[in-house]
Amino acid sequence: MKQRSFSPSSSSFISLCAALLLGAPSLANATPATMIPVPSSLSYAADSLPLGHGLVPQVEGPGSARVQQALARLDATWSRRLGGKSLTPGAGAPYLKLHYASNGPAIPVLGEDESYSLSVDASGVDIRAATDLGILRGLATLTQLPRATDQAWTLPCLRIQDSPRFAWRGLMLDVARHWMPLEVVLRNLDAMALVKLNVLHLHLSEDQGFRIESLTHPELHIQGSDGHYFTQEQIRTIIREAALRGIRVVPEFDIPGHATSWVVSHPELASLPGPYKIEREWGIFDPVLDPTKEATYALLADVLGEMCALFPDPYFHIGGDENNGVQWNANPDIQAFIREHQLVDNPGLHAHFNQRVAALLAKHGKKVMGWDEILHPKLPAQALIQSWRGPDGVREAAKAGHPVVLSNGYYIDLCYPASDHYLNDPLPEGNGLTPEQQALVLGGEATMWAEWVNPDTVDSRIWPRTAAIAERLWSPPTARDTASLYPRLDTVSDWFEAGGSLLRLPLERAVTELSGSALPEVREAVRCVLNTVEPIKRYRRGQAQPEGNQLAPLNTLADCVFPEARLARQFREAADSYLCGPDSDKGAALAALRGQLAQWRQASDLVLRSPSPALRARWELDRAARTLAELAALGQELLEAIEGGTTPGTAQVDKAKALLERAAKTNSSATEFRFLISLRRLLAVASAPTQFTSLSPEARRRLLEQRVPHDSDLP
Ligand code: ACM
Repeated sequence: MKQRSFSPSSSSFISLCAALLLGAPSLANATPATMIPVPSSLSYAADSLPLGHGLVPQVEGPGSARVQQALARLDATWSRRLGGKSLTPGAGAPYLKLHYASNGPAIPVLGEDESYSLSVDASGVDIRAATDLGILRGLATLTQLPRATDQAWTLPCLRIQDSPRFAWRGLMLDVARHWMPLEVVLRNLDAMALVKLNVLHLHLSEDQGFRIESLTHPELHIQGSDGHYFTQEQIRTIIREAALRGIRVVPEFDIPGHATSWVVSHPELASLPGPYKIEREWGIFDPVLDPTKEATYALLADVLGEMCALFPDPYFHIGGDENNGVQWNANPDIQAFIREHQLVDNPGLHAHFNQRVAALLAKHGKKVMGWDEILHPKLPAQALIQSWRGPDGVREAAKAGHPVVLSNGYYIDLCYPASDHYLNDPLPEGNGLTPEQQALVLGGEATMWAEWVNPDTVDSRIWPRTAAIAERLWSPPTARDTASLYPRLDTVSDWFEAGGSLLRLPLERAVTELSGSALPEVREAVRCVLNTVEPIKRYRRGQAQPEGNQLAPLNTLADCVFPEARLARQFREAADSYLCGPDSDKGAALAALRGQLAQWRQASDLVLRSPSPALRARWELDRAARTLAELAALGQELLEAIEGGTTPGTAQVDKAKALLERAAKTNSSATEFRFLISLRRLLAVASAPTQFTSLSPEARRRLLEQRVPHDSDLP
């Protein structure tokens, strides 16, 4: 092993104030993990290492731009969070030793060794790995380790052995429906690296945009993008920066459907005559390439060939989803082609198209990847399926002998809670696959579709929920405790922000814009309501806001709030504990419920009394505050009825039910209150107290689940 020492240049490193050293704590062995993803093996010692003097990096390995850049990233992140430069060459500071034998490939490859060990003791930090890639993963863990106690930042003393469960841990970014420029991609690469995601999948062409410069057919990006596309130089930057973070870049060109932006400049290759315009609406559209024309393959040979040379990864995504068949059915020549070539039906024609495209890509050494719909007996065995349509897709693909990654259940655009994504496992217990078939399940990808996000809001939709998916894909399958997940998502959000993510920006900007007042108590009240409402789930937003399209602003209440509202979730947890938890937890849960209800009443009152800026989201905020005030008052009545042993009369119950129904109705701001279920359950108990009093917590839970099912908030 070639060894050398590395110290970052002193000009950029200033040690933390020595006063911060005071009050360093001891940590108990039972300290829960704070990082995401949780390592495969972790044990804490009782001590901690003060960070007040920073750490002195010592690289014992061949040297690597990736390691140097990862150290600089660690330093920048800690500096922002810890309040000073953190990696210092000053004498007497503890060390940060990085030992590795060799550098991995400069462009990461699927299945590389990412394992590492990390130990912190009183004298310093040791990270060991076979290659620099493992060192990167260890540094990502280290980044999240500092803890603030009293006035000091310290590292807990610990030992970690860690390696990933799945080799493919991705984030798909749709840069086509809403354009996402270079800086969005770059800052999200940093966030991906922090939670050890290792595949950036760029969805580059869609009905609404062709987002990459083509040198062989510039008409594609010139006519298909409104001028919003990555230059090839920018793509090289993305690939380089991704590789420096141990991240592969997989391009997707969605064909033959979702291809309107292609046929804007090539109407002759569509399956029905044009002309065509860039699509502005959201949905599934008719335009589809004509797979019976040689000219189609000639264009693809040029453009995909050019893109194969640009993107080094062996996988090349050809989309393949959601061809609605309208154009193929309506074109008699295409139907005659299907008959002449005995292709049977449209899926047979799609398979024929995929075979041709796969052969074309194979000439450039590429393997095909595509959505569920490309699965067909004629698909080459090495083609990789990205399963999105249902829970059986992974099994079907693996049983047919294809490698597969899971995205069904990881659709972060649908605004589901982090816990839902977290519990969604690519290889759940009892999956019925043989060991060979299980080995084909490579991992998964979160999918950030961009109908309802733009560069300002996309970070707040991706993070922190995608960190829960990152843990599912990296950590052992036994890590499934959602109670421990949420505090860690809060912690990692602070590290994301320190690393440059803008995940809290939409909400904080909205606090300023919507307050109409600089008074801190008004701003706090607005923040409270914003942290209580959340966007509606699934594909319902398009129904609530049919005016939404590519050209419409994303300036409604749903755009500035998090997909999962913290205060609503905490209220649900407290109500659950109060109604169905052990008796010992009841007092604390009751206090939490009372506190939250009082805060909601006060906050909504303050919002409604504060000046109202003439903004759509403010009008929506006022409406939410009015409903919240009523809901909080109802919550207080129900709690006091239960505590006081008084049963509400029929009129009171009917009024409560009417309010809950009204509050659950889809509204034009496309937001909802996800704690209505808790009020419904409080109402169920308050109106029939004797049915619940003598029951065990478990029996109470079963009865409540019967009366008010857990998904009753999800229409
Ligand atoms: C997809 O969501 N249409 C892949």
